Parts: sequence; structure tokens; C-alpha cells
Amino acid sequence: MSAEGPVGADREQAVTDEVLASFAGTADPRLLEILRALVRHLHGFAREVRLDQGEWEAAVDFLTRAGHITDDRRQEFILLSDVLGLSMLTVAINEPKTPGATEATVFGPFFVDGAPEVPLGGDLARGAAGTPCYVSGRVLAAGGTPLGDVCVDVWGADEDGFYDVQYPGERSVGRGRLHTAPDGAFRFWTVLPTPYPIPHDGPVGDLLAAAGRSPMRPAHLHFMVTAPGYRTLITHIFVAGDPYLGSDAVFGVKDSLVVEAGHHDGGEAPHGSRREGAWTSLTYDLVLAPEDAG
Ligand code: BEZ
Ligand code: FE
Repeated sequence: MSAEGPVGADREQAVTDEVLASFAGTADPRLLEILRALVRHLHGFAREVRLDQGEWEAAVDFLTRAGHITDDRRQEFILLSDVLGLSMLTVAINEPKTPGATEATVFGPFFVDGAPEVPLGGDLARGAAGTPCYVSGRVLAAGGTPLGDVCVDVWGADEDGFYDVQYPGERSVGRGRLHTAPDGAFRFWTVLPTPYPIPHDGPVGDLLAAAGRSPMRPAHLHFMVTAPGYRTLITHIFVAGDPYLGSDAVFGVKDSLVVEAGHHDGGEAPHGSRREGAWTSLTYDLVLAPEDAG
């Protein structure tokens, strides 16, 4: 300490200590824990990289641009969390360890609450472009018990790689909510998923480009399964053979979620239906962990 106060590393630590102390009155103990850790890590990061003023301004500009491009259809902050792996790290921290339960993966920014209810065997593509795909399976408890009347939300992109909410207008296609049959079965028609880039025309896209990283995600279909007494399962199924399985822009792939697609000629289709052109199929059981797992 000199007459003017602390110098060098001590001066930097004095800033951190003062900020930490400023939060001491936080009443909620969990919030206090989070704020203190945030300050320690954020300050540690700035010290480690010796952050300069121009870099601090670039970071503020990046976050400002992320804010400006975000609205109720575009969520740049979730994208940022996804490409930094924070979303998948949060999944890894919170995922139950129940043997046999389906693995969770990233939620993504394209879920819409209140999607149209679709009867079992119904078509949730509702005109979305793509090769018809029949998706079926069962919802089970980890011990194998079938779970009937369970709510299954499904959403997917069309063959051009876009979700309905990425188009202008209010069209709801490629998504729906089903309830399982008493034997846990679900079945529906949609379009075969294809690989697509995450939105990369904003600051997160600039970040990927600067890092030489691809914005592509391997083909997948999203599921959210909600049943009383069980942990809500948020996951995807991925299509085997996809060229991007090893380089998902958001780190969401798990081997246990990769499924071989069936390819079929037109004619007879499941449950007595007929298809004029070629169609595809995916079959996967979704296994829920009990609420108290973890
Ligand atoms: C998605 O799969 O919908 C998604 C996930 C993360 C970022 C962007 C899209
Ligand atoms: Fe997706």
C-alpha cells in the first residue's frame, strides 16, 4: 500500500472486494451466492485477459446489438448461451442421473407455448415443406411402465431449415401438442428433419464467423414431455447419418438420441392410411425420470 492507496494487483483486488461488499445486504441467500460468484468470475476473467477499454466497448456493443435484434420471435441471448455451451452445461448440471431415462438436450429458441392440439396419428406438418415423416414411440417411466395421457409437445423446422416463427405472419406449422394413448403410445405425421443453420445474421453469427465456426445444426425434431410426478423432459431426436452430428453449433448431440430413419415408397402407410409419394419414419421411446431424481 502506498500513500495514494493500493497499487498493482492490490488495486484491482480492492475494486473486486468493494463490489462484493456492496452486495452483502442481499436478503435472498441464493441470489447472494450467485451475485458474489458472478462478480468474482467476471472480475477474474477481466484480469486474466487484461481487458482493455476498446475490448470492453466491443463487448457492450455486442450485447447492445443482441438486445436490439431480440424480440418475441428472435432470441439472440438464448443463441449466445447455446453457442457458448452454457445451455448444454446447464442441462448437464441439472440432468437426472436416472439409468434408462432419455437424455435431455438444449431447448432452443423456437418453442411456442400453446401449439395446436393434434390427435394421435394426426398431421402436425400442416403444410410445412418437406418429405412426410411418420414419428411414433411410447412414453415410459424409467422402470418401463407406459405413461398414458401424457402431454407431448413437438416442434421442428421445414425442409428449408426454418421454423414457422421465422416466417412473416402467424402461421403455426411443424408443431403440435399430443396426448399419449393409455399404453403410452404417440404417433403423428410431420416432415423429415433436415440440417439447418441457427440464425446467424446477428451478433452471434458474427461471433461464429470470427471463430471460423459453422452455424449448422444436424437434423433433429424437438420434444417436450410433461407428466405429473416426473421431471419434464426436453430433448430432440437426431437423424442418423447427418453430416453435422459431430459439429453441432450448440453442442446438443448425444449418441443415445440418434435414430435411423426408415425410407418407404408410396402406398400403404401406418394405421391403415395411404401415401401417394415416398415417406419416411422415425421411432423412439421417450423415458421419463421421476420428479425426485437428480
Ligand atoms: C434449435 O434447435 O431449434 C436451436 C437450438 C439452439 C439454437 C438455435 C436453434
Ligand atoms: Fe431445432
